[in-house]
Amino acid sequence: MRQAEELFEQTLVNVRGQLAGAVAALESSVHDSELNYGEIFLRDNVPVMVYLLLRGRFEIVRHFLDLCLELQSRSYRTRGVFPTSFVEEDDKILADYGQRSIGRITSVDASLWWPVLCWMYVRASGDTSYGTSPKVQRAVQLLLDLVLQPSFYEPPVLFVPDCAFMIDRPMDVWGAPLEVEVLLFGCLKSCCQLMSLVEGGGHGGPLIQQRLELTRTWMRDLRVYLLNHYWVTSKTMQVLRRRPTEQYGDYQSRNEFNVQPEVIPHWLQEWLDDRGGYLIGNMRTGRPDFRFYSLGNALGSLFGLLTGPQQLALFRLVIHNRQHLMAEMPMRICHPPMDQDEWITNTGMDPKNWPWSYHNGGHWPSLLWPMAAAVLMHQRLYPNDDLLLLGQTRTMLEECYWQQLNQLPRQQWAEYFDGPTGTWVGQQARINQTWTIVGFLLLHHLMRKAPQDVKLLDLDDVGPLRLSFQDQHEKSSPDERKSFLKNY
Ligand code: GLC
Repeated sequence: MRQAEELFEQTLVNVRGQLAGAVAALESSVHDSELNYGEIFLRDNVPVMVYLLLRGRFEIVRHFLDLCLELQSRSYRTRGVFPTSFVEEDDKILADYGQRSIGRITSVDASLWWPVLCWMYVRASGDTSYGTSPKVQRAVQLLLDLVLQPSFYEPPVLFVPDCAFMIDRPMDVWGAPLEVEVLLFGCLKSCCQLMSLVEGGGHGGPLIQQRLELTRTWMRDLRVYLLNHYWVTSKTMQVLRRRPTEQYGDYQSRNEFNVQPEVIPHWLQEWLDDRGGYLIGNMRTGRPDFRFYSLGNALGSLFGLLTGPQQLALFRLVIHNRQHLMAEMPMRICHPPMDQDEWITNTGMDPKNWPWSYHNGGHWPSLLWPMAAAVLMHQRLYPNDDLLLLGQTRTMLEECYWQQLNQLPRQQWAEYFDGPTGTWVGQQARINQTWTIVGFLLLHHLMRKAPQDVKLLDLDDVGPLRLSFQDQHEKSSPDERKSFLKNY
């Protein structure tokens, strides 16, 4: 733990003379200055910021949020978009909105995370005046403009090109990929909370009221849409397999996307078992993506998109498929990997995304904490639910915690792991990858130190928030406080 803490401190860098966030990996600048692992990535900094909030280090989070605000695009075509990453060079801040990245991809998740982090900061620090400040409220409106607008398409999803989130190399995840849509849900929720601060304080005009209503409706519609079209269980599959195809006109309600039963993969039967359930990866006309994406599912549970019973069905599914999803290094990014022709066509023969590698079925230790947080959140909100199942889920998480504790320091906190069991350090993995390090610190905090702190991640909770560091702070003398924060 001490090593992880020390490395974590080294990942934090200054921008304009003040700590502003973490670089993506520590080895970067030494080995390959062309690569951008020395930059501050917004998505990689999500666990960093959550961890800093849990430790009461609010000033760094605020500086990070402010810098992102300053970099929110003002150009006509991309107004409102936050950058994927930024870096300070020769006293100037260089931001990447996709134009500097491999393959010129776009980042959508960074933009959707900003309001979520901002709302968590306001809650944890109690700095409501930041949340109500004109600059934050303006940023929220600019971002919402990207979503709440007429388009060619009725469903309340955000349409994105391939590579628009953590999976930022071609993986056939264009359209309405789960992770983006679930993040959109969390983003809209957080925007509502931030707008309510102004509205509730009596400072909001009719415009903000209108936007608030529109955003709430959008969020509800999005949830209904995702639960209708993405959520599958053994029971829903049995209905889906037998529904009519080629429906036309007003009577298409049973097969809106004209999905042919033949596209339903055989592995799904064993995967779902009798009582498992999960959100599929994507829905497109005639071509649902049945792959399981760990982060989208964990966040779907954590953000309360899934109902309580659905969350249990998800945990059941994870336990049932533990040999795939957790294996030797929890947890796999998506399952199953694409192979052969599918890999050729859909990844454009990307050698980094070999089957069982990197985004294509690789194992990412940084993905375990959101799943653990989802389980803890469930236990917090539904304390009397299926105790047996939750006991099994906690045991599984405990074992995963030990696997990481045993492996990660020895494997130098690698970025990802390869192969069907995830035993090998990824072929092109960075070492000392920040979100591997801080992901484990978060896991340790939530599972060992203060499970009650998971309430910081509850986007619905508007009540007073008291985090464990505050209790610790009050109990101890000034000297003890210093050493608590240092040796935590
Ligand atoms: C890779 C990952 C991306 C991550 C970045 C920095 O590009 O695919 O998700 O943000 O590295 O760690």
